Amino acid sequence: MRALRVFLMLATLPWIALSVGERRSVMWRGDSFAVEDAASHALVSPGGNFSCGFRKVATNAYTLAIWFTASADATVAWAANRDAPVNGRGSRAELRHDGSLVLRDFDGRVAWSTNTSDAGADRAELLDSGNLVVSDASGRALWQSFDWPTDTLLPGQPITRYRRLVSASARGLPYSGFYNFYFDSNNILNLMYDGPEISSNYWPNPFNKWWDNNRTAYNSSRYGSLNARGRFFASDNLKFNASDLGDAGVMRRLTLDYDGNLRQYSLDVSAGTWRVTWAAMSRQCDVHGICGRYGLCTYGLGGAPVCSCPEGFVGANASDWSKGCRREFDVRCGEDVYFAPMPAADYWGFDFNYTEALTFDTCRQICLDDCNCEAFGYKQGSGKCYPKIALWNGRLPDSKQVIYLKVPRRVQNLDPSVLRLGGHRCTVREVNANSSASYLLAAGSKLNFVYFYSFLAGLFVMEAIFIAVGYLFVFRADPAARRIRDEGYSLVLNHFRRFTYDELSAATSEFSEEVGRSASGAVYKGVLDDGRSVAVTRLEEVTQADEVFRSDLSVIGRINHMNLVRIFGFCSEHSHRLLVSEQVEKGSLDKALFADGEDGAAALGWHARYGVAVGVAKGLAYLHHECLEWIVHCDVKPENILLGADLEPKINDFGLVKLLSRRDERGRVLSRVQGTRGYIAPEWALNLPITGKADVFSFGVVLLELLRGQRVCDWEVDGGGGEALRMDFPRLVALLREETRDLQEAWLEEFVDARLRGDFSHPQAAAMLEVAVSCVDDDPGRRPSMNAVVQMLLSSQDVVPPSLRHASSPVPEISHMV
Ligand SMILES: *[C@@H]1O[C@H](CO)[C@@H](O)[C@H](O)[C@H]1NC(C)=O
Ligand SMILES: *[C@@H]1O[C@H](CO)[C@@H](O)[C@H](O)[C@H]1NC(C)=O
Ligand SMILES: *[C@@H]1O[C@H](CO)[C@@H](O)[C@H](O)[C@H]1NC(C)=O
Ligand SMILES: *[C@@H]1O[C@H](CO)[C@@H](O)[C@H](O)[C@H]1NC(C)=O
Ligand SMILES: *[C@@H]1O[C@H](CO)[C@@H](O)[C@H](O)[C@H]1NC(C)=O
Ligand SMILES: *[C@@H]1O[C@H](CO)[C@@H](O)[C@H](O)[C@H]1NC(C)=O
Ligand SMILES: *[C@@H]1O[C@H](CO)[C@@H](O)[C@H](O)[C@H]1NC(C)=O
Ligand SMILES: *[C@@H]1O[C@H](CO)[C@@H](O)[C@H](O)[C@H]1NC(C)=O
Repeated sequence: MRALRVFLMLATLPWIALSVGERRSVMWRGDSFAVEDAASHALVSPGGNFSCGFRKVATNAYTLAIWFTASADATVAWAANRDAPVNGRGSRAELRHDGSLVLRDFDGRVAWSTNTSDAGADRAELLDSGNLVVSDASGRALWQSFDWPTDTLLPGQPITRYRRLVSASARGLPYSGFYNFYFDSNNILNLMYDGPEISSNYWPNPFNKWWDNNRTAYNSSRYGSLNARGRFFASDNLKFNASDLGDAGVMRRLTLDYDGNLRQYSLDVSAGTWRVTWAAMSRQCDVHGICGRYGLCTYGLGGAPVCSCPEGFVGANASDWSKGCRREFDVRCGEDVYFAPMPAADYWGFDFNYTEALTFDTCRQICLDDCNCEAFGYKQGSGKCYPKIALWNGRLPDSKQVIYLKVPRRVQNLDPSVLRLGGHRCTVREVNANSSASYLLAAGSKLNFVYFYSFLAGLFVMEAIFIAVGYLFVFRADPAARRIRDEGYSLVLNHFRRFTYDELSAATSEFSEEVGRSASGAVYKGVLDDGRSVAVTRLEEVTQADEVFRSDLSVIGRINHMNLVRIFGFCSEHSHRLLVSEQVEKGSLDKALFADGEDGAAALGWHARYGVAVGVAKGLAYLHHECLEWIVHCDVKPENILLGADLEPKINDFGLVKLLSRRDERGRVLSRVQGTRGYIAPEWALNLPITGKADVFSFGVVLLELLRGQRVCDWEVDGGGGEALRMDFPRLVALLREETRDLQEAWLEEFVDARLRGDFSHPQAAAMLEVAVSCVDDDPGRRPSMNAVVQMLLSSQDVVPPSLRHASSPVPEISHMV
């Protein structure tokens, strides 16, 4: 459980320990920090107002961001990779020796880069302005975050011809949403909804000409910026002042919020909260796209906008109002229709033929004549007629106008002026008459206000709960619980270290005792200064540069599971690459399994074999799933399964693929580890992508060998007439599949290792066989996952001694939020 706590702390509260550790504002060439140690290694501007480091955005998803140190929720001012977060383990930010500031994902892939290679960059510095600058030795800026705004402008950071602000997709999420703040082709700063179905400008008032909006289209320099005192000025003559104008000691930001409103904020440093000092839209329902297609926006509780659907429509997605409403009827061209009125409503825009001074009947006829017309708006008195081809940007109330909705005759008595506000029905008139907070407040308290306008508020709450749970785990760690060792899952960060070559040379008496060879190279026995027996492996094929090797290993070193050989550290000096791992007492499985005892009996009894099966499955499941499938072993075979003192299995060489390969951009392993004949999945031969399912295949082969006590490639079957026959593997599998379909006790007795002399558990053997057969399926998609394998094996554990009986995974299921 301790490990779990540590994990939760790392995963949920990366910024909790900001004050700990040294503070620095500069990274020099070669400096880096990892997502795991973000807390103490984040950059902090000299004055302390801004921080730069990794920010958690969802379960195991992180961005490299700059945030306001003093704001309570660490408000983000900029993010490098808002739409492509990196993994929560193993990711690093690094000022490479070539001068590029890069963000590398867990697999070493460059997820983001400043592209300043070979330009002489020597440092990356977080300035007091909140600007992250990569500059050369003379101080010339080669790249700066101010040139790449996300959704926020800081004082001094300009909006220009080439840059735009893009809102976040929802409260608390970093991903790009649909709202844009940018200079249009007329040189005017605009707010635009740019959704998947429509785009439309909503600020400044799109109904006006630019001169009526007090802007100018004649200055093509396209430049605007906020100053420290809260005054904004742009080349199109847009200017506005913060309500607390003049105080230069206040921290400010101009943010295009997820709800499409552009707001200026000031930070109250003592409370860590933000105060709105200016907003582009005074009426939130005038923002376009807010309630999606057919949705209607009105004001509820405390003036907050609320979306609803008219009768005849249902909300397309209760948690995402930008998806709008769905029509419950369709309108076919040419069919008999009538027009159902929605008084005091408007669906702004998408008029295909706006005309004034028309009679109601003419306007109605225009809409009737055009199959694409969904409704029309009509203003009594002025005779303004707005036939509409799409119903977007709906809002209430709009005095003087009535929307007439086209409805087929077969849908009777539809009254679209009846709204569905979260299951509650009320009329447009009621809403309008009572559009004060009190009415909706009353309605809301009666019916748990599900349609309250806050996109994904639920997710946000979940995240908050998750963080709270994290706190509980962290702070309620009582000593008793700490004493209880978990089941192999622990995230030991401090025992992994770098050794010098001399140290290892001494430990192994100058590499005198070679105890074997693994796929990676010669293995030597050694004893460390502190008395630990270790195995030292000379990685003969590893040619990685020191830094790459080190960061790959820091990932491997953090893996700790009782069924995986523990890696204590490494050495990387000159051309030497060595790995220091735990010495596992009883050698590898192949020796124990395929060797005979003195009396011809099996060296490995049934309980041990079953224990090996379960343990190896757990180790692989940990590699595949707990590590988020970033490690595929690729070479599962008895030689790579070591046995500890109590015959518990430990998988060896699991880091090899990590060291010898890279993944391509589609997550496939490009590896020089080629597996071992007899254990390799067919996809190797077919040159198909290698995933964790390749290990599942190899594991299936190992299971068969555990059952049979013989290498699969040596199996002979009775070819009839007493003639022994070697079979190729696919035919063997077909035969086994046939037998397991209707498993006979006698056949099983015959099949299982004769050296056990019948001393084995039939249900367990049957379960193992069934699992094995499903694992060696030709089609990777039909093989079970390692987690499923663990479950299947454990479900027949009843007859297993208590030592093997523990839950498969103490880590609770945590749903991904992206
Ligand atoms: C940090 O912000 C405070 C206002 O909160 C301001 O007074 C101070 O000058 C800022 N420090 C620097 C170094 O910019
Ligand atoms: C760096 O270059 C890549 C590839 O051209 C590009 O996709 C990326 O946006 C660039 N990054 C920055 C910060 O300019
Ligand atoms: C434009 O400026 C004039 C004069 O200051 C003001 O009366 C008017 O309301 C402004 N128009 C807009 C759309 O802001
Ligand atoms: C255009 O805008 C820029 C930036 O605001 C300003 O410096 C310049 O004087 C303006 N040009 C004209 C002709 O107004
Ligand atoms: C903003 O403040 C300045 C200085 O006080 C003033 O001259 C200007 O008129 C104000 N602008 C607006 C749009 O209120
Ligand atoms: C509703 O929207 C959320 C967020 O966009 C999405 O995750 C979810 O799958 C959607 N639900 C349905 C039923 O479409
Ligand atoms: C728009 O309405 C006017 C008035 O009825 C009509 O003359 C004109 O043809 C219409 N235009 C289109 C494109 O439908
Ligand atoms: C408005 O709400 C009040 C109570 O909140 C209610 O008494 C009144 O009847 C409502 N008016 C209309 C027109 O529905």
